[in-house]
Amino acid sequence: MAMQIKVGRHGGPEVLERAEAEVGAPGPGQVRLRHTAIGLNFIDTYFRSGLYPPPAGLPFVPGLEAAGVVEAVGEGVDGLEVGQRVAYGTGPLGAYSTERLIPAEKVVAIGDKIADETAAAMMLKGLTAQYLLRQTYVVKPGDTILFHAAAGGVGLIACQWAKHLGATVIGTAGSQKKADLARAHGCDHVILYRDEDVPGRVKELTGGKGVPVVYDGVGKDTFVMSLDCLRPRGLLVSFGNASGAVEGVNLGILAAKGSLFVTRPTIAGYTSTRAELEAAARDVVDVVGSGAVKIEVNQRFPLAQAADAHRALEGRKTTGQTVLLP
Ligand SMILES: NC(=O)c1ccc[n+]([C@@H]2O[C@H](COP(=O)([O-])OP(=O)(O)OC[C@H]3O[C@@H](n4cnc5c(N)ncnc54)[C@H](OP(=O)(O)O)[C@@H]3O)[C@@H](O)[C@H]2O)c1
Repeated sequence: MAMQIKVGRHGGPEVLERAEAEVGAPGPGQVRLRHTAIGLNFIDTYFRSGLYPPPAGLPFVPGLEAAGVVEAVGEGVDGLEVGQRVAYGTGPLGAYSTERLIPAEKVVAIGDKIADETAAAMMLKGLTAQYLLRQTYVVKPGDTILFHAAAGGVGLIACQWAKHLGATVIGTAGSQKKADLARAHGCDHVILYRDEDVPGRVKELTGGKGVPVVYDGVGKDTFVMSLDCLRPRGLLVSFGNASGAVEGVNLGILAAKGSLFVTRPTIAGYTSTRAELEAAARDVVDVVGSGAVKIEVNQRFPLAQAADAHRALEGRKTTGQTVLLP
């Protein structure tokens, strides 16, 4: 029997309840995994609260990212064997469980050099950093970029990676402690966005020009401020809703603030084929393997205490990566 965390109704962290389930044998194209570590992501809170509807409705088991060991292989699966260590970061939902079935095309093998916790922490967030920096806007040496919530899970990975790509990285953070951490992980400058005038500081740091790209996973609270940090024809990559969803945008604001571009990408849109997933995952494994991006797990919770992990994440108490341990 697998121990799972289930959501039977949408709500706060209290709706995350412990349950037991029979996992069964993998069907065609599937493998059964025994999880060794599960990645915590802000998106898990959106499915829990109902901001994002779970594709198969209620009840559901949250979680899109984990590392584990293959326990059984279904018909027609090539290239994966019982006992092999693998990880995944693009779902489907169901990672908050000691064991699960998953389509084989969603998992990638992990080498012996990458620890389970590292793998569980670097897939969804690493793949996100990959497409943000290497595909949505291609960061080049000499660029100055702005990355919000720089001390967060995606933030710490992306800021190290952007620095490695030769950019000058301006981060934002909610506290001095987080600012120090961001500075130690790729940020050249950190703005305390709860206290400082962010567009003013960005203009100061860019000789009055503004930046060509802002990466914004905070959403509602930072949307207008992000537009004000861009240079003419700059790009706002609005990729998350940590403070709430951006709604009711009047497109005229993009004209008024300098012929700006906005995109609202998702990881699914950049990993929709096996070839895309493999190429992006290879890039993540390479940059982590080279030591340029360090994956540090700063919080660990037993899987049974997933509700406490959600409280910490939504309460802005975490930094960098968090894993749930089965
Ligand atoms: N579109 C995609 O493909 C994709 C993929 C992965 C993640 N994301 C998004 O990327 C963002 C970061 O994800 P993550 O898992 O790495 O989370 P995280 O950055 O570790 O946590 C969110 C951070 O946002 C900041 N924040 C600002 N206002 C907040 C508020 N009102 N409530 C809570 N936090 C607030 C906090 O940092 P400070 O205290 O420093 O402000 C907090 O630590 C999320 O919006 C997530 O949905 C999008």
